[in-house]
Amino acid sequence: MIRVALLISGRGSNMEALAQSMAHSRQFSVTFVASSRQDALGLKTARAMGLKTALLPYELGQREAETELERLVEASDTHLIALAGFMRLLSARFTDRYAGQILNIHPSLLPRFKGADAIGQFWESGDTTSGVTVHLADAQMDHGPILAQKALDRKTGESRADFEARLHQLEHRLYWPTLRDYGLRLFSEEVL
Ligand code: GRF
Repeated sequence: MIRVALLISGRGSNMEALAQSMAHSRQFSVTFVASSRQDALGLKTARAMGLKTALLPYELGQREAETELERLVEASDTHLIALAGFMRLLSARFTDRYAGQILNIHPSLLPRFKGADAIGQFWESGDTTSGVTVHLADAQMDHGPILAQKALDRKTGESRADFEARLHQLEHRLYWPTLRDYGLRLFSEEVL
């Protein structure tokens, strides 16, 4: 089994989509879902799905939170860490330790529109095409080798809410096959 930890901070729709896909796969399993925020809606969803959940103590500081994350990763023998709406930057110490094992999804065609409000930035820009990126994460925001990208055109007259909904659906479709193919390439011996 390829064991994957999912990191969230909010709604958790990407976490849910990944966890559902992994539940149907014989090669992947979720080790735990960890949140940087106690009030993350995704924690409730994860619990309802029967997944192990954890709260990372960011109120104590980044070092403390990452030490707890490392403890969880090591204790569960996690192979991959998938950031799914995780709104904290990880330190270089952490990303170096797990280099090549941390994936992130971002709602733009990186390197365009980095940061928390990527969709808002796109909307204001007047561009007609944005999209979704899955990449390996390092300590910089929305940065690292790109694994997959898919473009999405804004329709004429489309509301921002409708465009956002289509973009999130695209995220849910792109993250799982990208993570699966990457995981199988890196950890093929785990599924023999
Ligand atoms: C997604 O758009 C993701 O790409 C970005 O934050 C959002 C999280 O949404 N990093 P959700 O929590 O997965 O529903």
